[in-house]
Amino acid sequence: MRKLWDSKVSRRRLIGGAAATGAALPVLHGLVPHEGLHGQEAEAAAEHIAERHAAHRGSGHLGAIGRVDPRANGFDPHEILRDFDEGILLGGVREWEIVAEDWEIEVAPGVKYAAWTYNRRVPGPTLRAREGERLRIRFINGGTHPHTMHFHGIHRAASDGVPGIGPGNVGPGQSAVYEFDATPFGLHLYHCHSTPLAEHIAKGLYGAFVIDPKGGRPPADEMVMVMNGFDTNFDRSNEVYAVNTVAFAYMEEPIRVKREELVRIYLVNALEFDPVNSFHVHANFFDYYPTGTRLEPRDFTDTVVQGQGERGILELRFPYTGRYMFHAHVSEFAELGWMGFFEVVN
Ligand code: CU
Ligand code: CU
Repeated sequence: MRKLWDSKVSRRRLIGGAAATGAALPVLHGLVPHEGLHGQEAEAAAEHIAERHAAHRGSGHLGAIGRVDPRANGFDPHEILRDFDEGILLGGVREWEIVAEDWEIEVAPGVKYAAWTYNRRVPGPTLRAREGERLRIRFINGGTHPHTMHFHGIHRAASDGVPGIGPGNVGPGQSAVYEFDATPFGLHLYHCHSTPLAEHIAKGLYGAFVIDPKGGRPPADEMVMVMNGFDTNFDRSNEVYAVNTVAFAYMEEPIRVKREELVRIYLVNALEFDPVNSFHVHANFFDYYPTGTRLEPRDFTDTVVQGQGERGILELRFPYTGRYMFHAHVSEFAELGWMGFFEVVN
């Protein structure tokens, strides 16, 4: 028997239905029942959702109804945005301690997700170093499954964090040390590489990894945006999309930036199950540095597409004050949470 909730087709059908009522979508996904609903049960659930949406008809509300409490999650997307973890520099070695833990998070109002986390955050801490430094990461697995830390960059096999090579699979209660040099400069990422790989990443084990060029970059208001999604019913497709985990967080509370100040966005695509993601900003254009490994921008554009694991640096200035939307240009992702505002002030 076909399960209504188990395929992208049904997900899109739900979206179509909601659009017809002019309703806000995340509410719908807060109501999506877990897999296993069949036939009449499923139809009844769909009707219930349609009724809920009819109740919001014409409200013109974009975004979620309700709010995720950052205190419950233990992290706030607004803090993650400008939080760069430079670790501790000791005797010429830059060092971090990272703990993997099972940790339940709320990804949209009322939508809980049993995540696997690095340092109880999704995304994990944004690790930041300077080109050429020696880096040491002490990894402790406090979770219930084997995990690793696999860094993008240039290093020896023994530090690659892949099962079977060096400190590959780190079992629950075990620890490992990864040591390598910070190269090349740019914007990279790290993630778990245990199998099944898609699940270990989708559960939340990823983070941004910034290596600054030796000469640095021009001063700017810097922020990290890790594009992600959550498969809340384990059907290998995402029901919730976001930047830095919480759907619509930057709609509810826009990101404040100063008019004419240089804004630098470290944009990482950590999405699983969907092959591409994108970033689009309204009423503006940005310089784009793919992977951040060259100091000259490749593009001057307003939309950039990233495949899985792809990332790049965006630089822009807002010439006018006001509210400017940014969102995935994959419209479906935008409506399911990947949408926000910049609030440009004097
Ligand atoms: Cu893992
Ligand atoms: Cu990777």
